[in-house]
Formats: sequence, structure tokens, C-alpha cells
Amino acid sequence: ACKAVIFDLDGVITSTDEYHYRAWKRLADTHGWEFDEKINQKLRGISRRQSLQVILDHNQVSVTEEQMQEFTNQKNIWYRESLEELSPKDILPGIPELLERLKQHSVYTAIASASRNAPFILDRLGLSDSFDAVVPASEVVQGKPDPEVFARAADMLGLYPEECTGVEDASAGITAIKEALMRTVGVGSAVDPALCDAHVLDTADLTVDMLLW
Ligand code: BG6
Ligand code: MG
Repeated sequence: ACKAVIFDLDGVITSTDEYHYRAWKRLADTHGWEFDEKINQKLRGISRRQSLQVILDHNQVSVTEEQMQEFTNQKNIWYRESLEELSPKDILPGIPELLERLKQHSVYTAIASASRNAPFILDRLGLSDSFDAVVPASEVVQGKPDPEVFARAADMLGLYPEECTGVEDASAGITAIKEALMRTVGVGSAVDPALCDAHVLDTADLTVDMLLW
């Protein structure tokens, strides 16, 4: 039986796409790089550094390690400013009820996010105490699509991956969950339903029945 549900954060619990987009756009504009919503879609689920690399590659720009640090730091300062706007009303539809029902079923919950801002975001949403484990993104060596972050979440809960379900909105995340050998639940149009054990277009349509077995 399923003993835990491990959630991605950005795109599953709350939607930060627009905030990431604005911060990357500001950085790109500052340096005269091309960046649009289409490139932004490719940044779903991947780390801050990898995101910058995608933007640089698209613009055929190469930078020093020092600039890499400087640019990711600057993006994060702008991103953090907009995160100040987040509040509990930014929790995606159906999520509070779902977490409540999982608790009633005595199922553990965890967050497996690539975001180093995850604890801050959970705090802004008023969800700091709502999950049994939050994987520290800074300790994850291999980002999604590598299964590491999901495997670590199971480990933090003292469970085998086979006892867990993972929920993701990014295709890199779906691959990570599958490779971690967990039940795979996809959310939204960015993931291929054929790769998921269950799929919904909207978080409001997630049910306990599709998560548990
Ligand atoms: C993921 C987002 O959750 O976190 C990505 O989907 C983002 O878009 C990544 O790049 C890293 O986030 P942060 O907050 O550490 O810059
Ligand atoms: Mg996501």
C-alpha cells in the first residue's frame, strides 16, 4: 500500500512560473539576451544554475564561473522580492483539502523540489508545518530528471520508494519519479499523460484515489 505522497512544489502546490519568468526576463533584458515564455517553459523543474545555462546556450553566450554566480544571485534577489507577494491564497486549488484527506488516511507527505527557496515559499503559503519532510535542495547533487530528490524524500520518511507516489508538473520531474520507482501522477499540460500512472490538467482534480493504492 502507498504510505506517502511526495509533492513537487512549484507548479503543484503553488504557481511561481510568472515570478521566475519576470526575474529571468529582467536579467536577460539587462544583458541584451533573448528570453521569452517559450524558453521559460524549458526551465520548469530544473535548478537555478541549469536554468541560466539554458538561457545562455540559447543566446550562444558563455560566462565565467564568477559571472555564473553573480547572475544566479541577482536573479534570485529579484525572484525573492516577488515571492514576498505570496500568501496562503496562492496555494493551488484543491491542495489544502487533499493534504487534509491524506492526513486522515495516515499517509505521510513530503516536498521534493529543486528550489532552494522551498522553505521560504512554504512559509509564505502558511504550509511550513504541513509536510512530514522537505528535502533540502542544496544537498541534492543530481537534479531532476535524476531520481535523487525523490529517493531522498522517501529516505527522510524512512520508506522504500516503492511505497510512495510522486506528483509533478514538469516532464523532468515525471522522469525522476518513474526512475525512483514510485507511482507517477502528472499535473498540467507540460507533462505527457502517457508517461504517468494518472494525470490531471488541474490540481483541483487530484483525488486521494488516484494517489493511493
Ligand atoms: C523549481 C522550478 O521548482 O525550482 C524551477 O520549477 C526553478 O523553475 C527551480 O529553476 C530552482 O528554484 P530556486 O528557487 O532555487 O531558484
Ligand atoms: Mg514543478
